[in-house]
Amino acid sequence: MEGYHVPVLLAESIEALNIVANGCYADLTLGGGGHARAILEALGPEGRLYCLDRDADALANAPVDARITAIHADYRNLGRWMEYYGVQKLDGVLADLGVSSHHFDEPRRGFTFRDDGPLDMRMNQLGGVTAAEVVQGYPEAKLAGVLRQWGEVERAERVAQAIVQARAKAALATTHQLRDVVLEVYPGTREPHKVLARVFQALRIEVNGELASLEMLLKQLPSLVRQGGRVVVLTYHSLEDRMVKRYLRGDAQRDSKVLEMRDLMGGEAGPFRLLGKAYTPSGDELYRNPRARSAKMRIAERR
Ligand SMILES: C[S@@+](CC[C@H](N)C(=O)[O-])C[C@H]1O[C@@H](n2cnc3c(N)ncnc32)[C@H](O)[C@@H]1O
Repeated sequence: MEGYHVPVLLAESIEALNIVANGCYADLTLGGGGHARAILEALGPEGRLYCLDRDADALANAPVDARITAIHADYRNLGRWMEYYGVQKLDGVLADLGVSSHHFDEPRRGFTFRDDGPLDMRMNQLGGVTAAEVVQGYPEAKLAGVLRQWGEVERAERVAQAIVQARAKAALATTHQLRDVVLEVYPGTREPHKVLARVFQALRIEVNGELASLEMLLKQLPSLVRQGGRVVVLTYHSLEDRMVKRYLRGDAQRDSKVLEMRDLMGGEAGPFRLLGKAYTPSGDELYRNPRARSAKMRIAERR
């Protein structure tokens, strides 16, 4: 679909995958299909690419290619899908997390405070609770927790209180109704967009269970990626990046004492080796695509 999404760190992420010509890969976040197309270009005729997206709109962007299997699914279930398709090991996995530009550009999806639309925010519109249901139904303390934890919203308690007071008078069903209630808590703020972005991000993460999906995925990767295979993850906020780094560096495994390996020196090593630091888009890319500004790419290799 024209204008659906501009892929971020495209050349860098494909290089990081270190694609073997007839290998088997998974693009866990198809979106507009930009990364998927580039993976196909690098793959040989016998290569395979499994593309997942939990948003049905994205699946329409799957390139028409005999080497592709497009799956409408949450990547939290990657292991089950690979089992279903008889895939034993993947040569590489790409995950470009979060939402696509399409989500922000379509007011009917309810992700943006810039345009008025229904407070939906579900990536998978076939089920789950909407942002309106969260805003209408959560108790005040739980709402404040969501805003604090997922959005690091300053004055989270005040915002939650304002929402509860407003919804007692009339249902909060649209993005602009929510926007107006939130801004009442920050009279005269010079940066209303920053405040709103944090509140909307928090609700979006809650509605889509984003961190839970990511953690479930990261736990499965050691058994799905072959030795020497690559995992490339693009994150867009610090909560995601922290979690990805923790898992790919092996800290999470060390914490939970489910160590898979010990290195030759008797020390402990996780299942992946993190390659380099976090990569970020160049100034040139940011000039062409400002929406890439918070991106960080982590690359890891299966030991
Ligand atoms: C940043 S976009 C990906 C853009 C894509 N790389 C491209 O080149 O156009 C993120 C996509 O991931 C999808 N997504 C987010 N969380 C997901 C999950 N848990 N499982 C599957 N897809 C998910 C979203 O619906 C969205 O289409």
